[in-house]
Parts: sequence; structure tokens; C-alpha cells
Amino acid sequence: MPENPKTFGEYIAMHGVSRRSFLKFCGVMAATLAMPSAYAGKIATALAAASRLSVVWLEFQDCTGDSESFLRAGASPDPMTSGVTDPSLVDLLLDFVSLDYHETLMAPAGTAAEKSLNDVVANNAGQYVVVVEGSIPTAANGIYCTVHGETALSIARRVIGGAKATIALGSCAWDGGLAAAAPNPTGAVGVGQAVPTAPNLINLPGCPSNVVNVVACLVNLLTTGNWPAMDSNSRRPLFAYGHEIHETCERHYYYEHGQFVQAWGDAGHIAGHCLFRMGCRGPRAASNCNTVRWNGGTNWPIGAGHGCLGCTTSHFWDKQKNFYVALPDD
Ligand code: SF4
Ligand code: F3S
Repeated sequence: MPENPKTFGEYIAMHGVSRRSFLKFCGVMAATLAMPSAYAGKIATALAAASRLSVVWLEFQDCTGDSESFLRAGASPDPMTSGVTDPSLVDLLLDFVSLDYHETLMAPAGTAAEKSLNDVVANNAGQYVVVVEGSIPTAANGIYCTVHGETALSIARRVIGGAKATIALGSCAWDGGLAAAAPNPTGAVGVGQAVPTAPNLINLPGCPSNVVNVVACLVNLLTTGNWPAMDSNSRRPLFAYGHEIHETCERHYYYEHGQFVQAWGDAGHIAGHCLFRMGCRGPRAASNCNTVRWNGGTNWPIGAGHGCLGCTTSHFWDKQKNFYVALPDD
């Protein structure tokens, strides 16, 4: 057993992960990425041979919700029956992709923390992946958000400019999110607008973004060298944002049969009827959150009895406001 594992296969062997668990994880990843089940074996072979990947996580104008989502990667009361992810393997994968800088999670602070970031940028040019959480203020030369005396705008341009690839994680990093809601006093924008030349950018909107999709994208990057297939305009991966929630919602039967919840706690609500009349934005929101769900597959908003807020749609704080007012009938 190598003491310093160089590949993910060596790393999970060191942690006692069985071949069976690993293959099951790869099967779940193939399903999440909307690949045929036959691809699970190919993912297993490539992932076992994958080398470490340096990741730096930049937090700007945000609520830390995406970091919280990330930290719940392994949260599931019964992971092996949820059918979504094996938390131990998710945790190991996220450990393996060396998280070299994350202000909220890292032990060092101040100058020592900034040294970690600057070391990655200086020594790993073109090799590291940047995760951006939060929006980037551009008004008044970006002075509304600074870290260690440098504006978020300057950090983003400097760090992203030297990266192999960038993930804009969550709605704020995608299009400015809540901070960009009118009147947008800080001039908040997402990564694509703040750094138009960002190399190999992928957007994973959501408020917060779902960690299962982050893991699936990283698996795809580790095994193929590329992000999964994306929508060319929004740069969102098709496996996660390729269809409207409404199409495959577990309450769609009730929508089709005109059985709606009319008031919170009424008989229809208790029976699990459609939430359209309560303002559900599922007919407008493209997301796979009804299949991957949250907290290790435990549940998702509509499953828990609340309408979708459309958190994966662009500028949803402005465009989907009045969340409890029903959309117009078709
Ligand atoms: Fe569509 Fe929402 Fe009704 Fe589900 S609950 S069927 S997403 S309107
Ligand atoms: Fe967001 Fe709607 Fe899913 S609010 S988490 S896209 S159910």
C-alpha cells in the first residue's frame, strides 16, 4: 500500500473502500451525468487512475450557502438506500481534490492564508481549478468587497486568469444573485461578466447549488479532462439543467388532473397534490434537484411540501419574486 497515494484508486484503497462500493459510486455518477450504465466501468477505470487536482475556493458577496451545501456532501441517514451518493466516497473524493484555499474552512488566517492562495497561483499555473462562491461587486472599482486589501474583482481576475478551469457555484456566482437584485447598489455581477475571459467556465446555479452536481462535474473533469456537455449560452451542464422540474415532478400527475393545493395544510396539501396554485416555479426552472435531491437524497423542496422558487433561473430574485403568487395559466 503506497504511503503517499498518487492516484484516487490508491487513495481509496488506503481508506479501505471496497471495489463493490467504488463501482456502485461510479454507477451513481454515470446516472447523475445522464450516461448509459455501461459507462460506469469506464468511469471507474479512469477515476481510479486520476491524479490529485488542486482547487482554490474564492468567497465573495455570499451567504456561505454553497459552502454549507458542500459540507453536507456526506449527510444522509441511509446513504446506501437513497440511491444518490455514497457519502464516504464523496468525502474521500473531495478530500482527494486537494482544497488548497477556502477562507471559511482552512486553518490558517490572514497573511498565512493568502500565502496558500498565492503559492497555488504561482506554482500551479494552468493546473488548478477555481470555485467561486458569491457575486463580484463592480461599482466604485469593486471596493464593496475586499479580502486582505485586494478587491474581489482584482482577485477574481488574477486567480481565475491563471486557472485550468472555473466553477461559478451558486446563483450569485452565476449572475450576481441576491446582491444583484434591484437596485443592485454594489454593481454585483457573476463570474462570466466580471471575468469574460475566464478559462473553461462552468456555471452551476442554485441557491444553493447542489453538491452532487459539483461532484459529478469533478468526476467528469478527472476522468475526461473536460466538463460535461453544456448549454452553449448559459454554460450550464445539460445533465443537471437540461430539463424543467415540472416535466418529471412527482406531483405532475396531480397537475395534469387539476388537483391543486389551494391553501397550506388543506386536504390537497396533506395528500401531496400539485403546488402550482401556491406559486410553484417548477414550470420555469430547469434543474435535476428532483432526482438528485438534497442531503444525501433525503428530500427536495417540492417533496417537502413547498413550491419551487426557481432558484436555478437567471436573476430569480427579481424575475420570480412574489413567490407565493401563482404563475399565469398556460
Ligand atoms: Fe409542476 Fe410544481 Fe406542480 Fe410539480 S408541484 S407538477 S413542478 S407546478
Ligand atoms: Fe431550487 Fe426549485 Fe430545486 S427552488 S432547489 S430549483 S425545487
